[in-house]
Parts: sequence; C-alpha cells; structure tokens
Amino acid sequence: MTASSTKRESFDVRILRQAAPGEPSRWETFRIPYEPNLNVISVLQKIAAMARNAEGKETTPVAWDCNCLEEVCGACTMVINGRVRQSCSALVDRLLEEHEGEIELQPMTKFPVVRDLVVDRSRMFRALEKVKAWVPVDDYYDRGAGPRESQESQEERYPLSECMTCGCCVDACPQYSKVEVERRPNESIEEHQARQAEAEKSEFLGAAPISQAMLFNRHATGAMLADDRLNALSGPGGIQVCGNAQNCVAVCPKEIPLTTSIARAGRQTTVHAIKKIFDR
Ligand code: SF4
Ligand code: SF4
Ligand code: FES
Repeated sequence: MTASSTKRESFDVRILRQAAPGEPSRWETFRIPYEPNLNVISVLQKIAAMARNAEGKETTPVAWDCNCLEEVCGACTMVINGRVRQSCSALVDRLLEEHEGEIELQPMTKFPVVRDLVVDRSRMFRALEKVKAWVPVDDYYDRGAGPRESQESQEERYPLSECMTCGCCVDACPQYSKVEVERRPNESIEEHQARQAEAEKSEFLGAAPISQAMLFNRHATGAMLADDRLNALSGPGGIQVCGNAQNCVAVCPKEIPLTTSIARAGRQTTVHAIKKIFDR
C-alpha cells in the first residue's frame, strides 16, 4: 500500500456509457469507497451492486465482459485512463497513483459497442477465419505420426501462440478503422451479421491475424494451407495496409513480436506473388 492510498477514503470512476448499439454515449461518475488491492473488475462489481452514481441518483448497472480474470481470455479489454488493456490485471492503487486519483473507463474504440463497456469483437474472429488460423485436419482416421517439429520452430511459434485475440493491437492501430453497420428494424441477428461482415470485407485485417497466419505457416502441418493464408494477406485489407507505426507491438499485453510477424508476412507475400507470376 502506498502513502497516498492509506489517506484516501473514496475515489471516482468516470465511465463512458451507451445503452445499446447505435445509441448516443454519455459519461457517468461513480464514487467508490477505497479499499487496497482492488482491480478494475472488482470496482465494476461494486458499481453493479450500488447501482447509484456519484450524485446518489439511481442508475442502471454498468455492463462489462470478463471470463478468466487472469489475463488469458481477453474478454475484459477496455480503454483505462486512455490506454487499451485488460481490466482484470489493471490495479486500482497503481492507476490512482499514476493518474492523480482518477480512473476513466471507455469501451474499445474500434469495435461496435453492445452496451457500456461491452464490445463486439467478431471482426477479429472473422479475420482469423479469413487467414485460416488453424492446423488443418482432413479426417479423424489414424494416419500415423505427422511431421516432426523442430525445437527452433517451436521456440519461434510459442510467443505467437500466446495471442488471446483481445484486440489491443487493432484498437491502437491507426490503419484499423471502426466499421459499424446499423441494424435495420425487424432484421434478424444473422442478417445483420452478414451485412456487417460484408462491410468489413476489404478493411484491414490487423496485426493479430497477420501474426496468427505466420504462426500456422511455420507449423509443419499448418503449412499445408500456407498459400491460402498468403492469398488472404495479399488481398484487400491485407499486409499492404500496415503503415508500420508499431503501436500494435507497444500495447500487446503478451509482448508478442508483432512487427517481426508483419515483416515476415511482408517477405512471404512478396515471394508468393513472384512464384505466382512464374507459375502462370
Ligand atoms: S497480438 Fe497481442 S494485442 Fe493483439 S490480440 Fe493478440 S494478445 Fe491481444
Ligand atoms: S505496425 Fe501495422 S498493424 Fe501495427 S499499429 Fe502500425 S499499422 Fe497497425
Ligand atoms: S477476464 Fe480474461 S483477460 Fe481479463
């Protein structure tokens, strides 16, 4: 506990709230009795239990997402005091120290808001589908041992495999723009999702899917789909959109070497394009 936190009785949390997709947003402030060793998720639990804002007025509980509570699932990602990160690992004592007693929470900026701090990250999962971020399985018959993996390849792939699709890298990326298609009256969720996916089709894939493509291209069996992945990375919204600003690598909570993956993807797509010319 720090000297300043021992004197504190309460602290304020400002939250950017939004009732539903497409609705206007508004700030609301909550006053929380101080306790040592809180994280942002425990603060949100206290807010949900109070359902009153700092002015003492009754209000709706703030919505947020979480799952693992140990920085593994990525579900609790939000913008905390201006920095995109996981709320389960954001410690209140440290935030109050660094930001003069204030905590400000906002939903991620590049995904459609579902409610309050909950966003829809489907675009990232669709991007993983686009780059076929998996090891292909033909069938479930026993076909014997697959190709051996070298220690060197394993060491190269392991850091990339730590990605939790949290979205920090794309939220911080200047080349990644928000795409939000409004739901029409009487439109089903499936129809709306299909229109949303269509609108994103040529938008930038982002650093995480590029890095996942490199992870699976480096895997001996995963490499069977290497050409498909390189076609996806060479197409609209692919590697050429990256401006090399390197914001992605700076904010990745898993310290994944994203710019190394991006450079590797650049080389692989160039060789792939040259090969295609000679294969004609
Ligand atoms: S690369 Fe890092 S920042 Fe991006 S989604 Fe994966 S874990 Fe999150
Ligand atoms: S290096 Fe590329 S992916 Fe990373 S933040 Fe910059 S533009 Fe985005
Ligand atoms: S709850 Fe899973 S990363 Fe925070």
